[in-house]
Amino acid sequence: MNSIEDIDVKGQKLLLRTDLNLPVEDGEPQKTVRFRRYLKTIEELSDRGAKTVIMAHQGRPGRNDFLSLEEHAEILSESMDKEVEFIPGFFGSELSNTVEEMQEGDVALIENVRFLSEELRNASPEQHAQDIFVNKMAPEFDIYVDDAFSAAHRSHGSMVGFTEKLDSYAGPVMKNELESCGKVRDEFENGLLVLGGEKPSDLIGIMEEMIESVDKVLMGGVPGELALMIQGHELGEKAEWIQEHGFDSKKDELKEMLENYNEKIILPEDVTTESGNYKVGEVPDEMTWDIGPETAENFAEEIRNAESVVMKGPMGAFEEHPEGTRKVVEAMAKSEAYTVLGGGHTSSLVQRFGYELEDFSHVSIAGGAFVRYLSGEKLAAVEALK
Ligand code: 3PG
Repeated sequence: MNSIEDIDVKGQKLLLRTDLNLPVEDGEPQKTVRFRRYLKTIEELSDRGAKTVIMAHQGRPGRNDFLSLEEHAEILSESMDKEVEFIPGFFGSELSNTVEEMQEGDVALIENVRFLSEELRNASPEQHAQDIFVNKMAPEFDIYVDDAFSAAHRSHGSMVGFTEKLDSYAGPVMKNELESCGKVRDEFENGLLVLGGEKPSDLIGIMEEMIESVDKVLMGGVPGELALMIQGHELGEKAEWIQEHGFDSKKDELKEMLENYNEKIILPEDVTTESGNYKVGEVPDEMTWDIGPETAENFAEEIRNAESVVMKGPMGAFEEHPEGTRKVVEAMAKSEAYTVLGGGHTSSLVQRFGYELEDFSHVSIAGGAFVRYLSGEKLAAVEALK
């Protein structure tokens, strides 16, 4: 795969696909780890004299974070101390006039590409190369750069269509994520997987792909609770909640994993509910919110003794009940081992608990793409770039 770091971009008209899909609070896109990573890419390209037009998406149709990128252009401008022009359309004179007038180092941002229905079709690169917007936009540019690792599992127009039309390169975020997550996927011996979050179905693929090569899998969050239920433990109100939300959909697959790898998979011994901490088997009929303190200490001890650790998903409802997740993240931050945090929520834990990105070997900004990549799946946009 060609990297944009290896070529001279001075004066080049460059179409840069980023993933600036950010959490939005009170209408304001938040400056997360993801935002900071892309700011770096954009600043570097600007410093190297490229004329950069950024393409990104925000939210999905029907959700309340499905918004215009106008605000994103403003926060980029503030953060770069340089005007990032917002282009409200996708092609025609709005785009061509802006690109024509750009000077070396200038940066502009196009509207949310998911406002185009063609974008959202799951189609092959050849099919997306026929999209009207791809055909109208591509001739305005010299180079296409894909830096959106976290959207690389989507075979969408902006992710796979332009590679058919323009010289295409991986951006620094894409390259770094592929290298670091590739190291986990291919060289992860004697390691520890720490799995949590909300959707057990996300994790089955990772477990199936990696369980043979890891030493242990520590399970918290909803996946850990589902595993406890499979083993016949009562989990009060949470059991109903898990069923109502359909989070037990991969119950059979998880059951099989628990049976086949009983000695490798470590489940919580205690949990935190509304009223306190309880040993598994003595949980009252209440919601559970977190792994309990004994489990958190045991998990932290396992992490301290491991040579490599990958964490995907918090250990519980960390906004209100952060303790279990905090202990696990702290043990990883203080460890000298090869440590990787992945998944949308998981990467935001770095900031929340007051750590620096440098306290971990790699912090992935990807959710779905991280899970799929570690599950051994091919990512559509990565294949297109190749
Ligand atoms: C993400 O935030 O994981 C990516 O931007 C992909 O978003 P999507 O799941 O809406 O495609």
